[in-house]
Amino acid sequence: MSLSVEKKLSAASSVTLVDESPSNDKGEMCGSKYEIDDSCLRAYLDRVRSTTGVVASPHHEPDHAGIFRALEKRIISINEETCSPGEENSFFVCDLNELVTLYKNWRKELPRVTPHYAVKCNPNPKLLYYLAQMGVNFDCASKMEIAQILALGIHPDRIVYANPCKMSSYIRFAEKQGVLYTTFDNVEELHKIKKFHPSARLLLRITTDDSTAQCQLSTKYGAALSSVPELLQTCQDLQLNLVGVSFHVGSGASDFSSLYYAIRDARWVFDLAESSFTLPALTLLDVGGGFQLHSFKESSQVLRDGLEKFFPEGCGVRIIAEPGRYFAESTLTLATHVIAKRKVNDDEAMLYINDGVYGNLNCILFDHQNPTPRVLHHSDKFHYFDFDSSAPPHAVSKNHRYKVSIWGPTCDGLDCITKECYLNKDLVVGDWFYFPHLGAYTSSAATPFNGFDQIADTIYINEEEAQANIASL
Ligand SMILES: Cc1ncc(COP(=O)(O)O)c(C=O)c1O
Repeated sequence: MSLSVEKKLSAASSVTLVDESPSNDKGEMCGSKYEIDDSCLRAYLDRVRSTTGVVASPHHEPDHAGIFRALEKRIISINEETCSPGEENSFFVCDLNELVTLYKNWRKELPRVTPHYAVKCNPNPKLLYYLAQMGVNFDCASKMEIAQILALGIHPDRIVYANPCKMSSYIRFAEKQGVLYTTFDNVEELHKIKKFHPSARLLLRITTDDSTAQCQLSTKYGAALSSVPELLQTCQDLQLNLVGVSFHVGSGASDFSSLYYAIRDARWVFDLAESSFTLPALTLLDVGGGFQLHSFKESSQVLRDGLEKFFPEGCGVRIIAEPGRYFAESTLTLATHVIAKRKVNDDEAMLYINDGVYGNLNCILFDHQNPTPRVLHHSDKFHYFDFDSSAPPHAVSKNHRYKVSIWGPTCDGLDCITKECYLNKDLVVGDWFYFPHLGAYTSSAATPFNGFDQIADTIYINEEEAQANIASL
């Protein structure tokens, strides 16, 4: 780091303000503008969790009746003994009205924050179309994702090309298509952008503490605060159009102190750019993804409070986010078929199903998920509403008599959905499982390994309700 850059860094770090912070139970404030007292922040977060926890899922139950009807209709139409290859494949049910409910809930909890859906999470064309109809914008990671969104007739200004390390040819593609917003976190990227897309509107992605998130991203992306002065200096020297800051607190985040700290750090970057450089005032904050339905009340409360302290309404900064999982997870249900069984004894078996970790259940490997298999069809009867049909080892009851391991269809031993699970029914070949809430980071990373179909069929439900609800938004 150069001396002048170091001076700018220390000058900016010493700036403090004495406005409101979250307080602990005794009413003591959690510190000044950049310095946060960790114990106060913890007390504040505990309070947020205890008050929002009782309504952890502020959202209605999924449309179980609609999902069940779609599953039942498809399964009744399949005769496992006579069907052609492919007809008994696993398939999704996608509830389009769920998307509208989720969006309404987003607007209620985070009215200041414009969502840019992270296409990587699930690029299902109909899901993207409905999100676009509602006015949701998009976060794209590659040329293909940009092209897919533009093909929907979306204006390029509604896209953030949120990948800090891009191929030069992809930068040229973005430039040609008029996609202006993009992220960066290193000096070399700035030189590429100067060469291939000099009018791009840049968001400096900073690192976060995402050590407790389900999927960590800051191991790979994000500038350390110590490198921010050099990056600002490079933007200034190259006369690039820096417009703001972005971060991501990790996908499947659970400790929202990282969100609060990240907003504080972003404020520090905004102030440093203004106080120590001749850059125009920054006007855009991108708070990334990491939102989940079950903790959305809590994360929203922390985000609202963090914004209120560091970027209060009227401060001239537009706030956007890049949610993926929040929109996709509960919208899709997967149904899979038992294709083989190896009995170990009367109460124990290995079950083989027609989807696995190389297909739509790749989330077990790539996304650290533990999807819940539930019995859908057994002995000529549907059991969708028996939500207690399966149990993991720690939750097993005497009702769950049958111990199973569940395996995918490929020849790889790694293709295991669960090594130990307990069912209340003795499943056989031809029976069906379903996996609720399986829309996030599933179909987007499925492979054709071993020659199995890569793309599963999707049945859409509640399309009319969704259309009517969108019209009344
Ligand atoms: C840059 C970026 N934005 C947004 C997301 C979406 O995150 P989430 O699905 O946790 O909301 C991701 C996920 O990897 C990401 O890498």
